[in-house]
Amino acid sequence: MKPYEKLLLENKAWAAEQIDRDPEYFSRLSKLQTPEFLWIGCSDSRVPANEITNTAPGEIFVHRNIANLVVNTDLNMLSVLQYAVEVLRVQHVIVCGHYGCGGIKAAMTNVDLGLINKWLRNIKDTYRLHQAELELVEDNDRRADRLAELSVEEQIINLAKTSIIQRAWQSENRPILHGWIYRLTDGILHDIIKMDARTPRLDPIYQYKK
Ligand code: CO
Repeated sequence: MKPYEKLLLENKAWAAEQIDRDPEYFSRLSKLQTPEFLWIGCSDSRVPANEITNTAPGEIFVHRNIANLVVNTDLNMLSVLQYAVEVLRVQHVIVCGHYGCGGIKAAMTNVDLGLINKWLRNIKDTYRLHQAELELVEDNDRRADRLAELSVEEQIINLAKTSIIQRAWQSENRPILHGWIYRLTDGILHDIIKMDARTPRLDPIYQYKK
């Protein structure tokens, strides 16, 4: 059996198991999508949103990209954000980074990686913002982990800069923005930053008029 054939076979077993446990499972899920959370995470295969939060299909609306970035020209991410905030009306937006992130580590090198340079440039900009602090950390892996934390904070600020979030905050005090980081070596999520409509830590230059 080819590896991809195993996936299709496992899928049949999984679907049968769900129906065994709850005969209405798929008919109920197919009619309604009301997740409370939008998850913006890293594409890394070791950080799957549902598994690590022990949630079921239907509970989290998910967007993943390399190094969990919120880039203000990324139509894909912005479309997901707008749909989640304005149509699904999520209460929480979570940006989840992780220690040991390959995207973060790559951004800390001077290797020319071609197209992906443009994406990783966003991480280099965060590095430059915090250069003094980061360069006090001698160990390269620890410095990468600190940059991963700082990058999550920066992505939360990037979310707060969007008119999508600002409009939602003005009209309904929703959603709350959460910056989390996941440790691959113990499976634990750490809460590192929170922002909501009442505690905007946003420079006034980014604030749109009501
Ligand atoms: Co990663």
